[in-house]
Amino acid sequence: MIFTVAIDGPAAAGKGTISRAVAAQFGFAHLDTGLLYRAVGAKGGDPVRAAQTLSDADLARPDLRTLAAGQAASRVATIPEVRAALVAFQRAFARREGGAVLDGRDIGTVICPEAEVKLYVTASAQVRAHRRWLEVGGDEAQVLAEVIERDKRDAERAVAPLKPAPDALVLDTSEMTVEEAVDAARAVIAARIEGRS
Ligand code: DC
Repeated sequence: MIFTVAIDGPAAAGKGTISRAVAAQFGFAHLDTGLLYRAVGAKGGDPVRAAQTLSDADLARPDLRTLAAGQAASRVATIPEVRAALVAFQRAFARREGGAVLDGRDIGTVICPEAEVKLYVTASAQVRAHRRWLEVGGDEAQVLAEVIERDKRDAERAVAPLKPAPDALVLDTSEMTVEEAVDAARAVIAARIEGRS
């Protein structure tokens, strides 16, 4: 079965948690596409060359989850040639046999507009910064400033900006528990699978 779940949205909205949970529940493969951009940013040197030569070892670096790696990812993600170098891998992953969940910023709009399910997972900047701060610690006001800066860069870039696909279901998790958000996503996917059979 070819079945793609595209989960887009801003930083720390809960995309990763929801994606991992629904991938496990439906037996689909999962790709965190932010990790590709984080690995390109962390590699240093020419970002276009880094994207063209990305290896499994680059994706296994232990320092990809830091705030600094997120900022570097958001910067290299504005470069059209970097994005172009990562498209084929993501498209092949999306249409692999057995089903796939991809989370990122442009999955439903650019990478896989034909995805069977498109979710746009969001939450207020304050809620997202608080969640990220619980993970990384430090100064919460600084974490909020970085979240807002990254949202702005991701949404205003010329190529594949962060925005919901016209046919995406918007899921605002500001007032939801993790369980409620996962349940809502699962219900949408289950209904779509049901509708196909
Ligand atoms: O989801 P994340 O926080 O790991 O993403 C890090 C950065 O990578 C994000 O700020 C923008 C970029 N990104 C992107 O441009 N397109 C994607 N599909 C995924 C991430």
